[in-house]
Amino acid sequence: MDLQGRRILLIISGGIAAFKSLDLIRRLREQGATVRCVLTKGGAQFVTPLSVSALSEEKVYQDIFSLTDEAEMGHINLSREADLLVVAPASADIMARMASGLASDLATTALLATDKPVMVVPAMNVRMWEHAATQANIETLRSRGVMCVGPVEGNMACGEYGYGRMSEVEDVVAAIVAHLAPRSGALAGRRAIVTSGPTHEAIDPVRYIANRSSGKQGHAIAAALAREGADTVLVSGPTALPNPAGVTMVKVETARDMLAACETALPAEIAVCVAAVADWRVADAAAQKLKKNGGGPPPLELSENPDILRTLAKAGNKRPSLVIGFAAETENVVANAQAKCKNKNTDWILANDVSPDTGTFGGDANTIHLVDGTDSVESWPTMTKDEVANRLVSRIGGHFGASA
Ligand SMILES: Cc1cc2nc3c(=O)[nH]c(=O)nc-3n(C[C@H](O)[C@H](O)[C@H](O)COP(=O)(O)O)c2cc1C
Repeated sequence: MDLQGRRILLIISGGIAAFKSLDLIRRLREQGATVRCVLTKGGAQFVTPLSVSALSEEKVYQDIFSLTDEAEMGHINLSREADLLVVAPASADIMARMASGLASDLATTALLATDKPVMVVPAMNVRMWEHAATQANIETLRSRGVMCVGPVEGNMACGEYGYGRMSEVEDVVAAIVAHLAPRSGALAGRRAIVTSGPTHEAIDPVRYIANRSSGKQGHAIAAALAREGADTVLVSGPTALPNPAGVTMVKVETARDMLAACETALPAEIAVCVAAVADWRVADAAAQKLKKNGGGPPPLELSENPDILRTLAKAGNKRPSLVIGFAAETENVVANAQAKCKNKNTDWILANDVSPDTGTFGGDANTIHLVDGTDSVESWPTMTKDEVANRLVSRIGGHFGASA
């Protein structure tokens, strides 16, 4: 109940993603918030006032020229009684009107009249999002202090692919909680990026190169960082795991996507690279499914993927002050980790033996040797991945405590 007693004015504008706002209302109320809604004319084309009021258990506001509404509440009060105004989904149109200072309907009038913080959750077609006008509008809004959650990359209702999808509801709730109920904990106020899981590198549209990483260790570390108050972005390859509570989730497929997502998440003070990133990808993934044609298996030429850990560890003035990598090894575990720590300019490497008989990949336990670029090795007893996560996060807390 992180939002107990908090009041949110949710403005639902006109986009396909408006159905997600119904779930958003439910989740915010589960956290204890009171949610009052404004439905734009466009929004009402996608969700009904009846659904919105049934879920919010509040009157739904739609019309700026409603005598009854003005007598009961008034548009100025509506915008100021809330602790936060959230526009979700935020259409290209409403963001353009916000950026221009228009007050052409109840939603934009409330947004112009408010003295409270505002958050937008854009959702639109990739071309609409990438259009110079939309980009200029979002920049204007950001420069005025408007918080922006998403959009994310993915398939769109219109059949296209790219940035423009509304962020997942749990990520919107996490952003609202982070704003309205700031965290306490040893890492409060610090930002962390964690990578997790395998990457998938396409051979053709139906086949890919991958590895046995389950994501359990990376997800556990992200969850532990969030519990300790860090503003945590979890960049994950494909896994079957649920999203950990309180983290901002970015789901990717390939090593190149993972690097791009990490770079977008910078600046951060902490980077923990746990993902088992594929070292190589197929140089020219086939556009169509490869067929058996009697000529033997197709030759697969590989090219090298970007090295995410190395790139983050030398990211110039954006280098996180603490860069931690994992080394999955099957032989010379400690020596290889020490070499990796120096070669890649990382601060710590957590080496783990992933030979098949250890059960580390996919299992619940892990045996860690922590190296830090000196000759010393800290060998931890075998423990669960959650325990590894807690121990690492408490060590990270100690690092910042000591260097503060
Ligand atoms: C089927 C359909 C889907 C639409 N989806 C979106 C969308 O996802 N994002 C968006 O910005 N606009 C979308 N639009 C366009 C907006 O609904 C339109 O710009 C509308 O004027 C927005 O009104 P509002 O900003 O007052 O809510 C869509 C329109 C239609 C007909």
